[in-house]
Amino acid sequence: MTSWDAFYDEAERRGPSLLLARAMNLAGNKAAVRQAVDLGCGAGMEAQQLMLSGWDVLAVDNEPEAITRTIANCSGPYLGTLTTCLSDFECLLALPRSNLIHAGLALPFCRPKSFKQLWDQVLHALEPGGVFVGHFFGTQHGWSKLPHLTFHSEQDIRRMCKGLEVTHLRETQIMTQTPNGPLNWHRLNLIVQKPY
Ligand SMILES: C[S@@+](CC[C@H](N)C(=O)[O-])C[C@H]1O[C@@H](n2cnc3c(N)ncnc32)[C@H](O)[C@@H]1O
Repeated sequence: MTSWDAFYDEAERRGPSLLLARAMNLAGNKAAVRQAVDLGCGAGMEAQQLMLSGWDVLAVDNEPEAITRTIANCSGPYLGTLTTCLSDFECLLALPRSNLIHAGLALPFCRPKSFKQLWDQVLHALEPGGVFVGHFFGTQHGWSKLPHLTFHSEQDIRRMCKGLEVTHLRETQIMTQTPNGPLNWHRLNLIVQKPY
């Protein structure tokens, strides 16, 4: 049992990600090589979504259960191939050249001191025309006092994405109920594309 099990169970019941579908459309039209990375792949449902459309996916997570579920959920007659990497974001040395990098509710769990190194790897790995799609936690998030998580304002994100085309940036805040009480869920959804 991991602390993520309930999240993975829920992920396996949900439908395809509309945000990822939008990013795939943006990245896929002209991409000759269809290499994607899924950072913090969880149960592997977005890796599966990519592979269904013919993307080769490197799925990264530091949780063995996530890798096990990703392999199970991505085994089948998919057009793309799967490679997995069991690693902390903080220990990654480099990412493969990619046309699409997805990080669904994952980058906030990178420790603040390692975030820039991880983001630089994302920027470096993206091919011209390559697309990053993912979520960030906003600075008003209810967990914002937790020192091991990373939070960003819209301004921070725009600064990090200098030189990229921001095609989608949407900020939402909603009060959710958790077993520990109400929690402000402040999140930013982002799609950016590297210029050709
Ligand atoms: C909220 S889940 C999201 C999973 C999946 N992307 C989704 O949207 O269903 C976050 C995932 O990131 C992984 N994770 C958290 N911190 C990590 C770290 N420092 N390095 C690598 N993976 C990490 C967790 O194991 C978990 O699978």
